[in-house]
Amino acid sequence: MHILLTGASSGIGRAAAELLHEREHIIYGVSRQLENLPDGIHPIEADLSKPEDIENIFNYLPKFNALINCAGMAYLSPISSGNPEQWKTMWQVNVHALALLCQHSLPRLTDTGIILNVSSMSGWRVPPSGGFYAPTKFAVRAITEALRSELRAEGSRIRVGSLSPGFVDTPLLDNYFHGREQQLATQRESKVMLSAEDVARSIVHIIEAPEHVEIGDIQMRSTGQKA
Ligand SMILES: NC(=O)c1ccc[n+]([C@@H]2O[C@H](COP(=O)([O-])OP(=O)(O)OC[C@H]3O[C@@H](n4cnc5c(N)ncnc54)[C@H](OP(=O)(O)O)[C@@H]3O)[C@@H](O)[C@H]2O)c1
Repeated sequence: MHILLTGASSGIGRAAAELLHEREHIIYGVSRQLENLPDGIHPIEADLSKPEDIENIFNYLPKFNALINCAGMAYLSPISSGNPEQWKTMWQVNVHALALLCQHSLPRLTDTGIILNVSSMSGWRVPPSGGFYAPTKFAVRAITEALRSELRAEGSRIRVGSLSPGFVDTPLLDNYFHGREQQLATQRESKVMLSAEDVARSIVHIIEAPEHVEIGDIQMRSTGQKA
């Protein structure tokens, strides 16, 4: 399969890029930092907070089979006291860019293509420190369901779904645990988080499902995660 994958330079997206490449898929990896993409990935440079960069992505691409929206960011940014500039950046990357990528991909996806949006367990329930991050992940699930209904209504066979991990040990958590570094260090030491590879395996499962199978969402947490 030919797969467009955002967030391919780090964490979950990078692990997915490696695993999918190993399985002989052709990956077009989007990032602002091309030097961090794994070997064997076709690099596409784009800052997803810029709509013009998103449009340019599609100049480089042939028809493709799958879009995986994995890029995202998480600031610890409460509604009561967080920095609204951080809310804006999270909204641009986690929500607006993801929806734009879905829209631009539709005419270029094969008939039974697939769109997979990486949401989060924070898109199902709001953790006490979820702040503005959780609303962006609720929005990812809502966009996924809105698009699924639109596609079914028009008789399209393009599939769309999401994936909702709990804590995953990636660099994203360094921002999310800002000011709670000791708590993060303890969690990392006790290994009560999923690994990026755990999540990458579920991404492969969704992407390689038979053409008539649409997986709506997979919720996954480490057995060490309580809520
Ligand atoms: N880690 C967790 O606990 C966890 C849990 C549930 C869901 N998730 C979700 O999983 C996804 C991947 O997160 P991760 O944990 O793997 O994070 P990560 O290691 O920090 O990777 C984030 C990725 O997003 C890309 N990205 C961020 N801002 C971008 C921008 N403006 N333009 C282009 N690319 C941008 C980064 O690429 P460059 O910096 O190279 O551009 C990087 O590849 C996110 O959607 C996140 O919300 C994570």
